[in-house]
Amino acid sequence: MFKNQQIAKDIYYVGVNDRQKHKFENMIPLPNGVSYNAYLIVDEKTALVDTVDISFGDIFIDKIQSQLQGKPLDYLIINHMEPDHSGSIRLIRKYYPDMVIVGNNKTLSMVDGYYGVTDNMLEIKDGQILSLGSHKLEFHFTPMVHWPETMMTYDKTEKVLFSGDAFGAFGTLDGAVMDTDLNVDKYWDEMARYYSNIVGKYGNPIQKALKKLTPLELNLICSTHGPVWKEHITEVVDMYDQFSRYHGKDGVVIIYGSMYGNTELMAETVAQGVAEAGVKNIIIHNVSKSDPSVIIRDVFKYKGLIVGSPTYSNELYPEVESLLRKIEIRGVKNRVFGCFGSFTWASAAVKRLTTFVETMKWQSAEITVDEKQGLKTDKYEACLELGRQVAELMKNHVDEPEHCV
Ligand code: FEO
Repeated sequence: MFKNQQIAKDIYYVGVNDRQKHKFENMIPLPNGVSYNAYLIVDEKTALVDTVDISFGDIFIDKIQSQLQGKPLDYLIINHMEPDHSGSIRLIRKYYPDMVIVGNNKTLSMVDGYYGVTDNMLEIKDGQILSLGSHKLEFHFTPMVHWPETMMTYDKTEKVLFSGDAFGAFGTLDGAVMDTDLNVDKYWDEMARYYSNIVGKYGNPIQKALKKLTPLELNLICSTHGPVWKEHITEVVDMYDQFSRYHGKDGVVIIYGSMYGNTELMAETVAQGVAEAGVKNIIIHNVSKSDPSVIIRDVFKYKGLIVGSPTYSNELYPEVESLLRKIEIRGVKNRVFGCFGSFTWASAAVKRLTTFVETMKWQSAEITVDEKQGLKTDKYEACLELGRQVAELMKNHVDEPEHCV
């Protein structure tokens, strides 16, 4: 029944859209949904590249069967074992018991570990080529983009890279699947949110993967999430390069927590100081309102970061603490930092923020602002100065070379 979209000679899109799930990995909101992309190559031999979340197993099988028209499915190539892509392995095996599962050593052990499937496996090595007839598939191991087993599959004949999570974006594919047939505006921020939240920790492995892929001529990049890239290959590769170097654009993100508006007023004042120094990209996030995934996205996008928090039970405001932990986990580098805080009877927030920046090894403004109770003139002026200082540091900041592979 299904008319699958053809994306290159003998290659068909057989992925699905998820508009049901509220949160990816049960954490990250999906206001625009997400697609789980899989591709079918129909040559003398047939090969499926990746599967989809098991919630969509039935429709996925229907799509494959519609395309194969009774032909056998010879190979299932597994680029990545996270269950949003591997979830339908056992189901497909039931329909195609003779299908050979292709993966590296780590992949195949995970196929056993997750699904108890151990037969009809083909372990391939880095650089090995599998011929389907006219299509020659070359395997490139790219560990930690995003798990240890991750690899990419390059169709040498059509110059198509099946890249796994790399170059993926949140957002469903509405009607079309290729960037040439879609208005891609909505995907850029969703790609940044995907990158920073899902693979943001793995800057160095991504740099290594990019280096390894440089010699490949690319007609298409087929990720497991979001559009098939044809027209915008340069932009998506460049975005990954910039993000994985932790290279931020000129701009300052101001994040604050506030219970009664006092720290919020400090944030507004700091922002005014940043603007006075001529910075136009200023993004203010109230941690109690903005979703952490959006804040993390902006921390990856911009070079400057200023954090403000009230003291709460002799600690940081818990929502701010939680966000700092998310930034720490991702090992964000090359940022310029400033901080401020408020307290009622005992000050702790600014001390903790100062410890945070020492841990991150970022460049920090000399001035910090710590206000007791309501904002008064001297600290108001200090907030303006903090904004100006971070803006000036940001303008003169040069990324540390060791973070560029
Ligand atoms: Fe889309 Fe790492 O799975």
